[in-house]
Amino acid sequence: MVRSFARRMQGLPAPATIEMARRARALRAEGKQVISLALGEPDFPTPAAVVEAAHQAALAGQTKYPPVDGTPALKAAVARKFSRENGLDYAPDEIMVSNGGKQVIFNAFMATLNDGDEVVVPAPYWVSYPLIARMFGGVPVYAPCREEDGFRLKAEALAAAMTPRTRWVVLNFPNNPTGAVCEQADLHAVAEVLRQYPDVWILSDEIYEHLVFDGVQSASIAAVAPDLKDRTITLNGVSKAYAMTGWRVGFAGGPKDLIAAMRGVQGNATSGICTIAQAAAAAALDGPADLVRTMAETYSRRRKMVVEALRAVPGLTCAMPEGAFYAYPGVAGCLGRTTAGGTRLETDHDFAVALLEEAHVATVPGSAFGLSPYLRLSCATRDEDLKEACTRIARFVDDLH
Ligand SMILES: Cc1ncc(COP(=O)(O)O)c(C=O)c1O
Repeated sequence: MVRSFARRMQGLPAPATIEMARRARALRAEGKQVISLALGEPDFPTPAAVVEAAHQAALAGQTKYPPVDGTPALKAAVARKFSRENGLDYAPDEIMVSNGGKQVIFNAFMATLNDGDEVVVPAPYWVSYPLIARMFGGVPVYAPCREEDGFRLKAEALAAAMTPRTRWVVLNFPNNPTGAVCEQADLHAVAEVLRQYPDVWILSDEIYEHLVFDGVQSASIAAVAPDLKDRTITLNGVSKAYAMTGWRVGFAGGPKDLIAAMRGVQGNATSGICTIAQAAAAAALDGPADLVRTMAETYSRRRKMVVEALRAVPGLTCAMPEGAFYAYPGVAGCLGRTTAGGTRLETDHDFAVALLEEAHVATVPGSAFGLSPYLRLSCATRDEDLKEACTRIARFVDDLH
């Protein structure tokens, strides 16, 4: 047998986040005390009232195939959420529910991309945008966001990335991995660039919107620039805000024709998502906002603790994140040096691998997110582990020669 695989999968790496988690697991299996700051997953349990809503839905017989684009009850809760929190009104046929935010992106790109179409992604970026784009023949083009600008997207950087072949622009604020936010004034400037490209779709990934700190306000482009709403997919979900990563519920608001095309993709892939998870997500969206606020306050406190600890380490720099639950320290000051275990550090990847192998702290190198030399650390981790991880990082850097 000729064991051939589709061309679209060639050269497609596994996301580095998953690769670092795999290495961490292997070390743990050897009995090492590994602290993992590699995955972007809240350490809180899903709120009890949300779990109870799922229980009741299952007992009430909500166990049959649902409509492909979501149960009427969840779509109504999503419409209320968009209206209440984002100032966006979407009709039922402008809303779609998927298996996590990730499937929203998969559906949207599969429904629209042809070979050679360019997808503009501000860098650093969440690893999946370029990987999913490439699965469908898309070509990622990056708009760099620099540490000097607080990793915020500048309109000039976006304009420089746009070409006649641009099909999509991805906006992700608060950003994974930097936590950078796009406030109203920044979004007006971004919208001005997008107006010059009327045939370009916009993906606004707002999955970390509730996790913003120090009075910074995150905004939705479709609300700030209503003239762009009919070509914008506003993506959100319950994974991050409600500690529901395993329930796999994401959703989108967008123009009717694009939502219909995405429904077509999903109908041929997974169909509608688990009915019980949909009942839970509706309860989360309609539930009290103070739960989300409490979790956000915890992330904010931990972020300060981590940033202060890292800033005290000679050789590391660390911007204070404005949102999400990551820290993105720079390791430029450590490159060219050698670890206690004898590894010469040339790149952030070398740093992350040596830190894991010698100090047993799992992080993800900035190269995975398109901006080096940095590391991404998840602060969605217990305080004791974060403190111990910072102590180990400081010792690891101190031992460099
Ligand atoms: C920026 C961003 N968008 C979307 C997602 C997708 O989340 P989910 O598929 O769990 O809804 C993630 C998860 O890490 C993310 O970081």
